[in-house]
Amino acid sequence: MVFNWNDPKRSAGSANDSDVPLEDRYPLLIDAVQDYAIFMLDPTGRVASWNSGARKIKGYVADEIIGRHFSIFYMPEDVAADKPGRELVLATAQGRAEDQGWRVRRDGSRFWADVTITAVHDTSGALLGFAKVTRDMTERMRLAELEHASELSAHMQVAREDEQRRIARELHDDLGQQLIALKMGIIALSQRLAANGTDPSGSAAAIALQGQIDSMIASLRRIAANLRPPMLDDLGLAAALEWLVDDFTQRFHMSVKFHTDIDDATVAPFAASALYRIVQEALTNVARHAQASEVLIEASSDADTCTIHIEDNGRGTIVADAGKRGSFGLLGMRERVRQLHGTLKIDSAPDKGFRIAVQIPINAIRPDESPPV
Ligand SMILES: Nc1ncnc2c1ncn2[C@@H]1O[C@H](COP(=O)(O)OP(=O)(O)OP(=O)(O)O)[C@@H](O)[C@H]1O
Ligand SMILES: [Mg+2]
Repeated sequence: MVFNWNDPKRSAGSANDSDVPLEDRYPLLIDAVQDYAIFMLDPTGRVASWNSGARKIKGYVADEIIGRHFSIFYMPEDVAADKPGRELVLATAQGRAEDQGWRVRRDGSRFWADVTITAVHDTSGALLGFAKVTRDMTERMRLAELEHASELSAHMQVAREDEQRRIARELHDDLGQQLIALKMGIIALSQRLAANGTDPSGSAAAIALQGQIDSMIASLRRIAANLRPPMLDDLGLAAALEWLVDDFTQRFHMSVKFHTDIDDATVAPFAASALYRIVQEALTNVARHAQASEVLIEASSDADTCTIHIEDNGRGTIVADAGKRGSFGLLGMRERVRQLHGTLKIDSAPDKGFRIAVQIPINAIRPDESPPV
């Protein structure tokens, strides 16, 4: 059913509304609906009427679609599997058929449709055709997918932290202890060799082996601490940040000014991990990209907000280019901050350094908050 909107007698909301008979108002109402494609199919599945919602969702105007078979709206693989035909059979047998799936617009693009097909009979029970109502759910589905992806990412982050903590503990408690036992064995061996005085070169080799084991123990401690700094669990965020800064200063010979007044008792473990990882990634970026001589880190909190500033005086970058494909550091920081309901701002320009400002509502990091899973 297609209405001429220029016909003043048929225009919904015209001054002559009261002149339009009640039975004519339903088609007007259906045609006015924008959010649903509402149309009729004849018993063979050919389009028999079209409303403005159908035009908006599917892209066809009435003249070009009326008389065409409704399988034109289906994906080629669904047509090949005779899905349209099966839906009509189901609607005829059960009165209605419902489906959610991809459909095709006039321009070939896909949309996620929620479809109901209802069989329409006359008073004698003969099949007149089908009423088809289609809703475009693409945005809603994308939103649900995004929410799901973000929940998944929060869950993965917590799982990753747990796994890193477990590996760090195993490295320290198992491999670390074995290395220490090995070192003791070699010390005993070198003492025996020295006491015998029969093999001075063997004794020197045993001493060299001790040196190698010492450096293996140091590497192992560093790797374990990078996976999960023990102070994060034992001494809290401030001490862990202090350790991170010291380690960075020693390794990269860069001057780092660090100040924090964060009270560890006010930070939940998952929030402490997130804040620690943000500073860690920012420092890694300074080492990799900045060519800076100075870094400033300030972590503070007041009654409402926890704030972290990380700033360097290096070569900076064009901010719009900083989130390019294949780089995940800044993306990961943003995700962690988003999970804590905070904001992250980046300010940089070529030769003007790089500044990251993170603000998180204090309520989101309190120990009584549960992890964002
Ligand atoms: N402190 C900095 N100074 C200058 N440029 C920076 C700084 N931090 C980040 N950038 C720029 O932003 C880009 C994105 O950083 P991001 O941490 O997301 O990725 P990445 O470090 O390149 O790779 P990864 O995924 O391993 O972290 C970097 O490639 C770099 O060009
Ligand atoms: Mg990075």
